[in-house]
Amino acid sequence: MSGSEPLIGVFDSGVGGLTVVAALRQRLPAASILYLGDTARLPYGTKSRRTVLRYSQANVDFLQRRGVDALVVACNTASAMALEDLDVRTPHWGVLEPGASAAVAAAGRHVGVIATESTVRSAAYEHAIRRLNPELRVSQRACPLLVPLVEEGWEDDEITERIVARYLAPLLEAEIDTLLLGCTHYPLLRGVLARVCGPGVTLVDSAESTSLAVEHRLRRAGRGGGSAPRAPSVRLFATDAGSRFARLAERILGEPAPLEWIDVNQAETT
Ligand code: DGL
Repeated sequence: MSGSEPLIGVFDSGVGGLTVVAALRQRLPAASILYLGDTARLPYGTKSRRTVLRYSQANVDFLQRRGVDALVVACNTASAMALEDLDVRTPHWGVLEPGASAAVAAAGRHVGVIATESTVRSAAYEHAIRRLNPELRVSQRACPLLVPLVEEGWEDDEITERIVARYLAPLLEAEIDTLLLGCTHYPLLRGVLARVCGPGVTLVDSAESTSLAVEHRLRRAGRGGGSAPRAPSVRLFATDAGSRFARLAERILGEPAPLEWIDVNQAETT
C-alpha cells in the first residue's frame, strides 16, 4: 500500500454488509469504497462451505479486478466458512474475529451468539470467543427468519418482535449477559433486539470493531488519514439489483449511492 487514499472493497451476500461500510465511512471518510452485494445468490447462510467459498472467491476476484487495495469480507457466513481459504492479494479482514473480540470485551460470563444456520453450524464464533477467553460460556442460536424480515423492511414490526422473542427465549432463559449479532443484517434489528433482551444484556456487533481493525492497519501503512470526502465515495454493485436493495442501502448509508447491476464473472477492469 502506498500514500494515496485507499480503495476498499467490501462484499456481502446482500445489503446487510453496508452496516460495515457505514462504520468504515465514519472512521475513514476519505477512503473510497466499492461494495458488492451478491443478491442473486443470497442467502449464503443456508449453503455448504464449498458453495460459499466458490461464491466468495468470485466476489474477491471481481473486486480485485477493479483495483481495490484492501478487502473486507462483511458477510459473517463467508467469514466463518471461507475466509481462510480465499485467495486474496491485498490486506483483508473478515467480521468474525473483530466481532468475537468485541463480545469478549463486553462479556460478563455468558455470551449468546445469533447467526445464520451455516455460521452456527461452523461454530466459528464459539471457537473464536473461547480462544480469546476459555472461561466464557457461549450459547448459539440460528435465526433463519430474521434475514428475510430485514430484507422485507420489517425491522420494527410487531411480527418481527414476536419472532425475535421466540428465537431468543432459550438464550435469555440461560441468562446470557451479552448478545453477539453474528449476521450482517442483525444490526438493523437492534431496536427490537434491545427491547426483547432488556437492559441486562449488552448487544455487540462486528461493524464497529471490523472498521477499527481496518483503520489501524491502513493508518499504520500511512493511508486513510485524509478527511475530505471524495464524491461519490461509495459505489454499489449488486448481482441482482432491485428497488429493495437501493431502498435499504439508502437507509443504512443515510444517502443514496450509485448502484450497478453486474455479473461477478464479467472480465471488467474499470
Ligand atoms: N450475510 C449473511 C451473514 O452475515 C446473512 C445473509 C445470508 O444468509 O446470506 O451471515
